[in-house]
Amino acid sequence: MNSPVMQGLNLNTPTYVKNAKLVAWVAEMAALCKPSSIYWCDGSQEEYDRLCAELVAAGTFKKLNPAKRPGSFLACSDPSDVARVEDRTFICSAQKENAGPTNNWMEPAQMRATLQPLFDGCMAGRTMYVVPFSMGPLGSHISHIGIELSDSAYVAVNQKLMTRMGKAVYDVLGAEGEFVPCMHTVGAPLAAGQKDSAWPCNPSTKYIVHYPETREIWSYGSGYGGNALLGKKCFALRIASNMGKEQGWLAEHMLILGVTNPEGRKYHVAAAFPSACGKTNFSMLVPPQGFDGWKVTTIGDDIAWIKPHADGKMYAINPEAGYFGVAPGTNFHTNPNCMASLDKNVIYTNVALTDDGDIWWEGMEKDSGKLPDHLIDWQGKDWTPQIAKETGAKAAHPNARFTVSATNNPALDPAWDDPAGVAIDAFMFGGRRSTTVPLVTQARSWTEGVYMAATMGSETTAAAAGTQGVVRRDPFAMLPFCGYNMSDYFQHWLDIGAKVQAAGHKLPGMFCVNWFRKGADGKFVWPGYGDNMRVLKWMIDRLEGKAQGEETLFGVAPQYAEITWNGISFSADQFKTVTSIDKAAWVEELKLHNTHFDQLAYHMPKALLDTKALLESRLAAA
Ligand code: GTP
Ligand code: SPV
Ligand code: MN
Repeated sequence: MNSPVMQGLNLNTPTYVKNAKLVAWVAEMAALCKPSSIYWCDGSQEEYDRLCAELVAAGTFKKLNPAKRPGSFLACSDPSDVARVEDRTFICSAQKENAGPTNNWMEPAQMRATLQPLFDGCMAGRTMYVVPFSMGPLGSHISHIGIELSDSAYVAVNQKLMTRMGKAVYDVLGAEGEFVPCMHTVGAPLAAGQKDSAWPCNPSTKYIVHYPETREIWSYGSGYGGNALLGKKCFALRIASNMGKEQGWLAEHMLILGVTNPEGRKYHVAAAFPSACGKTNFSMLVPPQGFDGWKVTTIGDDIAWIKPHADGKMYAINPEAGYFGVAPGTNFHTNPNCMASLDKNVIYTNVALTDDGDIWWEGMEKDSGKLPDHLIDWQGKDWTPQIAKETGAKAAHPNARFTVSATNNPALDPAWDDPAGVAIDAFMFGGRRSTTVPLVTQARSWTEGVYMAATMGSETTAAAAGTQGVVRRDPFAMLPFCGYNMSDYFQHWLDIGAKVQAAGHKLPGMFCVNWFRKGADGKFVWPGYGDNMRVLKWMIDRLEGKAQGEETLFGVAPQYAEITWNGISFSADQFKTVTSIDKAAWVEELKLHNTHFDQLAYHMPKALLDTKALLESRLAAA
């Protein structure tokens, strides 16, 4: 007999928890993981403050100077635990084909047998936190509940900011409700008397595992971001994409924004850019000088759940309630709304500490006009401009992050929490490409848009462990996040479009963008950030039938005169550098599309093969 009660461990189930399945699961997991105690999070401010104080006492958190960053903390992770681990991420569907060629796969029974000994006793000496959360507004018909069991208090407090976390979730769950079980351990059991480290994790063994059929998540060995905050990529994308496929909706790696023109007409745009390619930035865009009367508001910065409705519109919600955003590069020039969001009640991870107890990261010198004289870098070492110059040492890790509640955002859209969602008028897809892909083009049809998204390439970033800066195909920015066979996912997008169209409804516009073309000097040519408003405005002009554009082999592009150039000088020649379509480069690009399609041949929709053939013939004729 191995019941937790037999071991002298009390489940401590609060009286307001009525779900028998949940209580049984917690008991079973406690018996497996053998924590020293169990704590049920209620999501209160008092609890958050207490857990943060405990994290300070444990050395995981540093309390920042309350005069500079009230209510804020800095956590520095183990240097081996700084990003998502894509090579340790698995989709364990019953059939290998259903995970598809882009996911790591293991037979579910074999994976369970692998994880069983790892989870056995994995929480020894630690508290198991029971973290109830809702992805999406509590009680919305689009929302879903998850319960994360974790031995990390860092996870519990981050989930308070990132999700609707706490007691109210149990009211929605009731006695019979469904939840996605999310098991998480840092994989660092403590022997009796063993001193804990400031960032416990398992340096050699990590598994981020999803069982799509039974809708379970099991994460072992990491305390970081998308590896550990299981509501985010694991649930809201990998598991939810499976739910959406079954139920006729979409779970996407997309920001959602509202854009209102001076006449007061409001549009909603959802945009898929890969990790660290500008979603948070774009979702909080401040229109540049010369765009008086234009307003951009944030609904979400990372994930969208989108459902077609009977009225023919596609409604989107942000399942999250906070932002886990990239810190480096963020400043008052690139993203003033984001900086304003970060003035209080923030958890910082892997940024640098200033001598007066504030935070710093690369890019902030653009605001102050100079580098700080001295910092403690994210690894606890001294940092000076001299050291940086000599060794190239970064003060903040390139994937350093902030965790902040959405309600801190001054540009938050009033409908961000609306259970009904917002109706999407346009989709955007954009990778990080220094060459080849133009600034913006509009797809001539839904199918061409799906093709553009399906063949999107992007240079890899620090958001995932591994080599950086190499172009890889990242269809729909979902390569690391699609929880089933990628070609079936393309078909799902085609099916949803066809269904909306068959009912006689107008589909959202589809646009392909690239902010990242570089010139001969290796610098970005397009100013980006707030100036992306110029592209957004052209897109809306297209939706309103006000911009004619011009046909290219890869969609309809803007004419120079159709872009509003108020407030900057950007010559027709410069415009050419970011919009030109180079035939030789596209011949090479098409070869990459071919390789990509070969890899995804199983269930590749014929409509996309036909679209590729059309593109090839246009290219041959160019
Ligand atoms: P995840 O949270 O990883 O999904 O990333 P994200 O897509 O939200 O990326 P984010 O907005 O945090 O931007 C990541 C990096 O891209 C930052 O260093 C930004 O400075 C940079 N960036 C964002 N927008 C632009 C742009 O328009 N032009 C250029 N050149 N860089 C940009
Ligand atoms: C991403 O990598 O796309 C992120 C950060 O949004 S993480 O939560 O670590 O996945
Ligand atoms: Mn992301």
